[in-house]
Amino acid sequence: MSIDEQVIRRLEDFILAERKLQGITNVPFQHHGKDVSGYAYVRAMNKPLVAALSELSPMLSHADRKLRFLEVGSGIGTKCQLAQLLGYAATGIDLLPEYVELAQHIYIDCDFQHANALAYNYEPFDVVYYHVPFFDDELIEQLENRVLSQVHTGGILIATRISPALTRFLDADPVPHRDYAAHRLRLGQDIGRLVVVRKTVPRTQA
Ligand SMILES: C[S@@+](CC[C@H](N)C(=O)[O-])C[C@H]1O[C@@H](n2cnc3c(N)ncnc32)[C@H](O)[C@@H]1O
Repeated sequence: MSIDEQVIRRLEDFILAERKLQGITNVPFQHHGKDVSGYAYVRAMNKPLVAALSELSPMLSHADRKLRFLEVGSGIGTKCQLAQLLGYAATGIDLLPEYVELAQHIYIDCDFQHANALAYNYEPFDVVYYHVPFFDDELIEQLENRVLSQVHTGGILIATRISPALTRFLDADPVPHRDYAAHRLRLGQDIGRLVVVRKTVPRTQA
């Protein structure tokens, strides 16, 4: 881990400890009438996301508005602030209201909302990012499908890990059973283990 990343972590840990938000394990919630759990606030590195967002922004840019970035499971909110500094309009959502309140208090230029990722509307966003909000592959698959169905054509999903089902979908060409098409984007910069997926038009509609 780079030294600036270590310093950021230390500062974040201090703030989380002050707010008694350290050591929170899984986050229980109801989904389709079942008890499920969201993953705890375990942070991914900042640098690969900064590299990906920097490279994507000229590719996606709109003349008339800022690109819209969403972090699912934003916790303390640092990645939203990094996106904001890179020129994106940044939104973070988290299931724990304590994180949302804290992030909004620290990063006033970003927008943080208390929301469940599996019931959220992804339509307005150009880039949606997450790092394991759930451990369960079935829930991850539902989230991937929701994001990729709802974002506009050309919209981007960035994830530290994708489900085996999405991997198969991206590897097979064409795959008929989804209402969207998508492909993996290879970026020139080192983005570590991040997977970047771009929604495209299904062949039948191209
Ligand atoms: C692994 S951490 C995310 C780390 C952070 N995004 C990063 O990249 O460093 C998972 C986060 O997702 C949140 N979370 C869990 N279930 C969620 C859900 N259903 N909707 C929204 N957020 C959820 C947790 O509260 C936690 O903050």
